[in-house]
Amino acid sequence: MLVFVGFMGAGKTTLARDAAAVLHLPHHDADRELEAALGSSIEAFFDRHGEAAFRAREEELVLGLLARGGPAVVSLGGGAVESPRIRRALGAHTVVLCEVSLATAWQRAHGRGRPLARDRAAFERRFHERAALYEQVADAFLPEGPKEQIRRAAPFLRDLEAAGLPGLRLLWARAGRSEHPVLVGRGVLGGALPWPARGRRFGVTDETVGAVHAGRVPDLAGLVEIPPGERHKTLATAQAVWQALVAQGATRADHVVALGGGVVGDLAGFCAATYQRGIPVVQVPTTLVAQVDSAYGGKTGVDLPEAKNYVGAYHQPAAVLVDPTTLATLPAAEHAAGYAEVVKTALIAGGALWERVGAGEPVDDAVILACARTKLGVVAADERDGGLRQVL
Ligand SMILES: NC(=O)c1ccc[n+]([C@@H]2O[C@H](COP(=O)([O-])OP(=O)(O)OC[C@H]3O[C@@H](n4cnc5c(N)ncnc54)[C@H](O)[C@@H]3O)[C@@H](O)[C@H]2O)c1
Repeated sequence: MLVFVGFMGAGKTTLARDAAAVLHLPHHDADRELEAALGSSIEAFFDRHGEAAFRAREEELVLGLLARGGPAVVSLGGGAVESPRIRRALGAHTVVLCEVSLATAWQRAHGRGRPLARDRAAFERRFHERAALYEQVADAFLPEGPKEQIRRAAPFLRDLEAAGLPGLRLLWARAGRSEHPVLVGRGVLGGALPWPARGRRFGVTDETVGAVHAGRVPDLAGLVEIPPGERHKTLATAQAVWQALVAQGATRADHVVALGGGVVGDLAGFCAATYQRGIPVVQVPTTLVAQVDSAYGGKTGVDLPEAKNYVGAYHQPAAVLVDPTTLATLPAAEHAAGYAEVVKTALIAGGALWERVGAGEPVDDAVILACARTKLGVVAADERDGGLRQVL
């Protein structure tokens, strides 16, 4: 089952209903079924019997709903995740977190008779307390945004569920008018998921990465290898890539797969942005720098002798595939360079990420995911470096 969770006012019911329509699946709304079972509105039950009694009835109903199984889309009430038994039961399903800012949540929930949206301070406390619970159960993260985005995200949510890869997470990325999936998990390159872009794939990588990881990208129609290192992030290398793409027969119906660190990501992204006036690029970052930072946000380009990153284009990827197993071959010095980015990102994010990184905990998949979410959040708010993105 795809189970939609999120705080009050996140739009879970509408989003789940729309996802169900796109995927031709039934939709079950826990709150609506609960009201039918209670024989009264949730507000009235809450006011008459109190929160504890309500949570007990809710737990019973939601556990029953989740045990029903079967292909379906389910939306839960905002507080259902407070139950440890429900959180455990969610482990058997694909959980979609509908994200919402505190300000939007309050604006949507306040003044509608909702018992938990009467006092602003209590509302805010609950918002922060629940954030960690939502993150704990979420397999997919849908940012606040236009509600039509669920129509584009739904097929990827279905694929995520079908893949059944433990630990696999999906972030739905938005930047300007572009939207795309970011998939983070061990085995993302293993072919368990349908490839996230149409047309033939032309890999661009550097010789070092190509030797160890190019074979992991399924069904490449062509491969271009450039020499490794920043000094090759030049227009001359871009020209060599463009010409290799021509020689290998890449067309406007095809796309580039940028497999490597930030140098390959920037250069291959730039080549894709400009080849035949622009073809899609799928970013497959293989350094820690690229997995926590440079693969997101669509900045592509090359260096000039006069200055770094002086020629380029914004070109949002069609998808980003982050497989942390690629880091196994990364030299220690490159890990250290990536760690600096992790610390920078954690400082920007604050909260739970900073607590972990600041305490010196090792960088694991969860930290990579949290860094990716932070960077995507900054990019969504400011794609073109107008203000907030300059913190990066
Ligand atoms: N576009 C953005 O938003 C953005 C943000 C930050 C940095 N950048 C750019 O990123 C670049 C730096 O990226 P980087 O630090 O990833 O360096 P890099 O791409 O040069 O990679 C570092 C080295 O590691 C090797 N390597 C990569 N992955 C490997 C793997 N899995 N196993 C073994 N070796 C591997 C590469 O061959 C290279 O020699 C800079 O050019 C910088 O301008 C871009």
